[in-house]
Amino acid sequence: MPENNDTTHQPAPEDRIQWIYASTGVDELEERYDQWAADYDADLLNDFGWLGPQQAADVFRRYVPKSARVLDAGAGTGLVGERLKRLGYSNIEALDLSLGMLEEARKKNAYTAFHQMTLGETLDFPDGAFDATICVGVLTLGHAPARSLRELVRVTGVGGHVVFTLRPDVYENNGFREVQDELTVTGSWVFEEATEPLASLPKGEPDVVFQVWVYRVGRS
Ligand SMILES: C[S@@+](CC[C@H](N)C(=O)[O-])C[C@H]1O[C@@H](n2cnc3c(N)ncnc32)[C@H](O)[C@@H]1O
Repeated sequence: MPENNDTTHQPAPEDRIQWIYASTGVDELEERYDQWAADYDADLLNDFGWLGPQQAADVFRRYVPKSARVLDAGAGTGLVGERLKRLGYSNIEALDLSLGMLEEARKKNAYTAFHQMTLGETLDFPDGAFDATICVGVLTLGHAPARSLRELVRVTGVGGHVVFTLRPDVYENNGFREVQDELTVTGSWVFEEATEPLASLPKGEPDVVFQVWVYRVGRS
């Protein structure tokens, strides 16, 4: 048998999150998510007990009316869309850099449109295209950088909401505090809420916590 020199093949399920984080750039990240897509839900929900989509949706529903045009930024396989649909939202669009993940999201029947785009770059939407944006498990190391928030604000209309999950250490150490403060000082958004740190991967990584942040776009 020839030796398998393919260094991009998927590792064992318990090692896949670390394998994703070890990506050396956006292209490799996209490739790895493409490869992981078919197994993502089983791995994250069963092995890690991923609660982020439900935790974020529970906060989101308190601010955003059911009729809202919603952008799920970094939608992945559509776990957030699935939960929002269950709550009564019917106008949700999915954005992700991985087509493989978007193909899985399509199967959830929760989205009205799919967009392959990269957070951190200029998004191909007009100003105020959405009433709300939600971004779960995406604003993190090696994924979408802090500057992504500026574009999420731009594409969310005045009076709309930007809801996202963020690890407290990433907030402090990876430029999020600075960008979030800048958007507040410039009157781009108004702080509504940050939840207490929540254990979102209780089975696989019980020590990793996330906060759900909510901002309203525009001045108070
Ligand atoms: C951990 S998954 C989260 C998916 C989904 N939101 C959830 O809660 O299950 C991260 C997703 O973000 C996407 N992603 C990572 N970096 C991105 C970027 N810069 N722009 C767009 N999508 C990105 C990945 O392709 C992947 O689908």
